[in-house]
Amino acid sequence: MSRSGGSRVITHLAQEEANAVRLYLRYKGYHWNVGGPMFRELHLLFDEHAAIVLETVDPLAERQRMLGAAAPYTSGELDAVATVPAEDGLPPTVRGMVDRLREAHRTIVDGMHDGFRAADAEDDPGTADLFARFVQAHEKMDWVLRELAAPVATLPDDAGRLLRPREKGAGFAPGGLPHVAPSTPARQVTALGA
Ligand SMILES: [Fe+2]
Repeated sequence: MSRSGGSRVITHLAQEEANAVRLYLRYKGYHWNVGGPMFRELHLLFDEHAAIVLETVDPLAERQRMLGAAAPYTSGELDAVATVPAEDGLPPTVRGMVDRLREAHRTIVDGMHDGFRAADAEDDPGTADLFARFVQAHEKMDWVLRELAAPVATLPDDAGRLLRPREKGAGFAPGGLPHVAPSTPARQVTALGA
């Protein structure tokens, strides 16, 4: 069952392993730092999805070992193959969190479609099955977020906006993505008379 170094299946497995690690950390980061009127629902949902994503990491890594390749695990190796973009800070709004999670799910769904086709072309039904099952999990999580995003979108712009305490009353730089302070909605800051 060994695959040569140029196997596209191995490339796709490594890519989706790295993407899953990134998305897991993104979910946990949002789980820890989300705030605002939907705090409880999002805090719990993000953790639930983090657990689902984490469960996919091990099978994706071990499948590479079964096929005779090394499974990447260092941050450098994972960064080199991930296609879900790295983040340099939290989105300024709750809606931004949902949007970034959905973008990641869609990137992974597309990648797994490609991986499924590569596995089929390399006559590897085991890997094809892995991608077929995991793509459904990502599609379901994306669906949940999509439905969740509808009511979020109807809230006033700053309803879920979070600011660092040092940014009290400072507003947002145009086009900027300020870092998010834990559980500090802008309107709460305003109400405190900042
Ligand atoms: Fe937690």
